[in-house]
Amino acid sequence: MPSIRCPWKRCLKEVSAPVYQVAELSKARVQAGSGFALSVPELTIRPGERVALVGDSGCGKSTLLDMLGLASSPDGAGRFTFCPRGAPSDIPSLWRDGRSNDLGDLRKHHIGYVLQTGGLIPYLTVRQNIDLTRRLLDLPDDGTADALAERLGLAGHGAKLPAALSVGERQRVAIGRALAHRPPVILADEPTASLDPETAKTVMALFLDLVEAEGATLIVATHDRAQVGRLGLRALGHDLARDPAAGLTRARFWG
Ligand SMILES: Nc1ncnc2c1ncn2[C@@H]1O[C@H](COP(=O)(O)OP(=O)(O)OP(=O)(O)O)[C@@H](O)[C@H]1O
Ligand SMILES: [Mg+2]
Repeated sequence: MPSIRCPWKRCLKEVSAPVYQVAELSKARVQAGSGFALSVPELTIRPGERVALVGDSGCGKSTLLDMLGLASSPDGAGRFTFCPRGAPSDIPSLWRDGRSNDLGDLRKHHIGYVLQTGGLIPYLTVRQNIDLTRRLLDLPDDGTADALAERLGLAGHGAKLPAALSVGERQRVAIGRALAHRPPVILADEPTASLDPETAKTVMALFLDLVEAEGATLIVATHDRAQVGRLGLRALGHDLARDPAAGLTRARFWG
């Protein structure tokens, strides 16, 4: 696997607990008479893996990412452990017991999430947006945010508000914000979807370089199957079926 350069890293990868271990996870969404049901029979993601959720629009990529990002509760889970470092956390019990502070702490410390819609704070500058989670975590201003802005081609834009940026520039700020606190787990929801194909290639390659340099675990949602092969991502199994009797679309991801 090209992402592993050092034998110790390979060893660590093999002996460490999975970052995510999931079985029989489910989430249903019903609106205006039509329903969508997502299930994950089995999913194991190991430290340093680079995984893709690939599928057409509406197949449940964001729904699954939101659950993995601890932003949305599952309806049911036979098993759902999250172990970015140290001991695994049992996620369903945190949701069940209303421990939103613990879920928030896990998110803040361990996850960087590039949202499909960007999710930038409109009244903060580019630099402040990139630096946001570092500030929330009281991390020192050690130049990380500026170095990331530079790498992402945003050096001249630090004092601008998101509204003054192009869509592609906003996506790069969102990438910078997800990486700046150096989380071990990075989730990215179609991080280059609104870019032209050439720029998308460049930004995605840069994004993967940055993830690789951190040794982080990456889960990226995309509908671009060619990108998955080109970048050597592990695509999860996926199928989608319409169940007219139940008025439901059923989707599954596994792997
Ligand atoms: N808040 C919601 N309330 C009700 N249904 C929803 C909600 N969000 C999404 N859905 C439905 O859930 C299904 C899966 O949506 P989801 O956003 O996960 O798909 P996706 O694969 O991320 O699509 P895209 O590629 O367009 O982003 C869709 O049928 C969608 O209409
Ligand atoms: Mg989506």
